[in-house]
Amino acid sequence: MQRNLLLIPIVLTIATMMFTARASISQDASSSWQADPDLVEKLTRQRREFNYVESKVPTYTLPDPLVTRTGQHVGSPKEWHDGRRGELLDLFRDQVYGRRPDTEYSLRFEQTAEVTQAFDGAATGREMKAIVEIGERSFSFPFVVFLPNNASRPTPAVVHINNRYFVPLATALEKPDPFWPVKMLIDRGYATASFHTSHVDPDKKDGYADGIRAFFAGGDPPSDTAWRSLSAWGWAASRVLDHLETIDSIDAARVAVSGHSRGGKTSLWAACEDERFAIAYSNNSGCGGAALSRRAYGETVGRITSSFPHWFCKPFSNYAGREHELPIDQHEVIALIAPRGVYVASADEDLWADPKGEYASLVAAAPVFELLGKRSIESPRMPPLGQQRIKGQTGYHIRSGGHGLGELDWGLFLDFADTLLK
Ligand code: GCU
Repeated sequence: MQRNLLLIPIVLTIATMMFTARASISQDASSSWQADPDLVEKLTRQRREFNYVESKVPTYTLPDPLVTRTGQHVGSPKEWHDGRRGELLDLFRDQVYGRRPDTEYSLRFEQTAEVTQAFDGAATGREMKAIVEIGERSFSFPFVVFLPNNASRPTPAVVHINNRYFVPLATALEKPDPFWPVKMLIDRGYATASFHTSHVDPDKKDGYADGIRAFFAGGDPPSDTAWRSLSAWGWAASRVLDHLETIDSIDAARVAVSGHSRGGKTSLWAACEDERFAIAYSNNSGCGGAALSRRAYGETVGRITSSFPHWFCKPFSNYAGREHELPIDQHEVIALIAPRGVYVASADEDLWADPKGEYASLVAAAPVFELLGKRSIESPRMPPLGQQRIKGQTGYHIRSGGHGLGELDWGLFLDFADTLLK
């Protein structure tokens, strides 16, 4: 016993030495996150045409969200809401995500399956079809909804944009899926709904003819500034919200929209276009999502617009290598969501998505939250790896690991959502 006690300080000292050694190559658990230099080197070697080195990020000045195109300073919430917000929204529509059509349509929902005692009676699950009609023509896409059975009052909800696959009701019941952890959401008191992006607008360069955009355009090709897939998927999230609004057990004023990667770019833009969303959660969204374009770190405007021409309207591609000429940057997407909630999550190894740029845009939106009388994250220093930061309307975490969305991210996001929606 005595001998064992004596061993403890020795073991601790060795452990500390090992940790310190590790920390000097990666990082100190208490200091602001920095990209692992070994990873930076490796990625630089693998993809020479992209920059992963912090010191090579171009010097840039971000456009001020509180200064209009004509140089007027926006000094009141009224000036923001009545003038500048609309101006910014139009800039993003015309330069980045494209403009949605104003064609009239009708919308109805059909229930195709229901299970009232899902997860040992904790939830009701329904498979639904959203049917969009213009004259005699119709377009539909499926989605799945889960409602907590035992809530004493209307619950908040999360609309999850699934960019990977469709999860039919039966699959959601059979197999837990960390990408959309239904049971976890229910256990935490949230209703949830999800659809698959490609059911709305196929996620491929040549998928236009089969998607909602072609349906709206009556088959005509899209103009240069017409909406593209990200906007179409965000539009679909709003249609799912239309349905949630009809459910008495959901409090439609407390609905978040979430997505990962291309789905995270979409969730941000969905909340810009639709002010009914109370929170946008963007996970590892990177370029064209939370990350600042001007940093040109990891994925760039040039690369994303050539690899995924169906995501952004044509003008965005003109800023390839000329990011500093953009009249906007991605911090203003976050500003457009203010004073509502925004949660951004990054992953340590996902340098393609530029974690620093994702965090920086959240911070650069702070003056707008402040103008609107709300608190938000302002510290320019990123939190340490694995440590969540929440201040007022915004929250952030960077976890270890690669590009992905799992229960750890969801749990932290829901901790943030609880502060605003519960
Ligand atoms: C690609 C793309 C990213 C995107 C990601 C995803 O890596 O370059 O912009 O976020 O796919 O959606 O998984």
